[in-house]
Amino acid sequence: MQSNTLQRRDWLKKSVLSLGALAVAPQITWAETVKSAQKNNKKFLYGNPFFDEYTPPTFPDLTTVKARLVWNENPHGPSKKAAEAFQEAVWDGNHYSWGSLGNLVSKIADYEGCKPENIMMGPGSSDLLEKTAMVYFQDGSGNVVSADPSYMSLVSVAKACGGNWKSVKLTSDYQHDLDAMEAAIDADTKLVYITNPNNPTATITDTAKLMDFCSRVSEKVPVFVDEAYIELSDGGLDNSMAPLVAQGKNILVTRTFSKIHGMAGLRVGYMLGQKETLEAINEITRGGMGITGPSIAAASASMDDLDYLASCRQKLIDARNYMTAYLTDKKMDFMPSQTNFVMFPINLTGDAFLEQVYDRKIVVRAFRFWDKDWCRVSMGTMEEMKVFTAALDEFYV
Ligand SMILES: Cc1ncc(COP(=O)(O)O)c(C=O)c1O
Repeated sequence: MQSNTLQRRDWLKKSVLSLGALAVAPQITWAETVKSAQKNNKKFLYGNPFFDEYTPPTFPDLTTVKARLVWNENPHGPSKKAAEAFQEAVWDGNHYSWGSLGNLVSKIADYEGCKPENIMMGPGSSDLLEKTAMVYFQDGSGNVVSADPSYMSLVSVAKACGGNWKSVKLTSDYQHDLDAMEAAIDADTKLVYITNPNNPTATITDTAKLMDFCSRVSEKVPVFVDEAYIELSDGGLDNSMAPLVAQGKNILVTRTFSKIHGMAGLRVGYMLGQKETLEAINEITRGGMGITGPSIAAASASMDDLDYLASCRQKLIDARNYMTAYLTDKKMDFMPSQTNFVMFPINLTGDAFLEQVYDRKIVVRAFRFWDKDWCRVSMGTMEEMKVFTAALDEFYV
């Protein structure tokens, strides 16, 4: 009897594991991607033809790191008011959160100047990037036009569903090459994906030119603009493409509570778009279902804490100014950042650079594109930035 139960448990475990493997591919976590790359002795994580990320050598235990500058998080958040709202909402955890989610949607609609029907919620914007790609590319055909390099979540899922990636290199001043992107659109293009400001380069594309591009091109094909870092750009929301939604354009815009709101671990994001488009995506995927009630409460409280958001923005910009002043002083090149991270070319291979940094209990990322190696450093607290620059003084400059 006992052995039967054990066998059954074993069988259940195995089938859940194999189902899990199917369900999570291709979006396995970064840690899993790293582990599998290390196991297979892969120098690069993804195997993209245009740009790639170095597989880190043994990753330091995160509880011991002195400077966590790796995932473009906000080291200062969440706001105290958000944390309190989160804790209070736990007591309503026996209920589904449709009521509070509806209230948050209305609040976001007021904030964005659109209607609640123009908003789809998700547990982070990754969820919305991936769901959009799944729905658009579920039939295994078509292509997505996006920049090289750019953020890969949406593109990876589109590719895994059978779509093609048409990548268009950024201009020499690191903006999206809008003319070349428009020229790359063909009869099979299902989506144009723009990350603005861009990740991993941290650079922004001229707002007026992008507005004109989105407005015109969305007549032919939907344009998806990922604005995860927009609040940190000079001019902030003035650079947003969100107003085009209210004008009825066929455009999708994502935002996240993971960056300026300091809530990366609480998982809240949203997408703005036309009602019919969002309905088509929601019909298959149900956006809001994955967000917990406490996270909804925290997001709502965070939106009200304007002083806190302004102070986070200032601190992140101070850290960025510190970092770029350091690089300038050392006569090192870097891309002009409009985000909470800075990308600079390095004259060591990315893995050798990471080893030196990790040895000092600091975590950053290293990429390879355009025949160069690059370090991407996220903005931490000022103390963390000083730990990093002291390390560079020691082994690099
Ligand atoms: C450009 C960009 N988009 C989307 C995301 C996803 O963020 P989240 O799922 O936490 O909202 C990130 C995260 O770093 C990002 O850099």
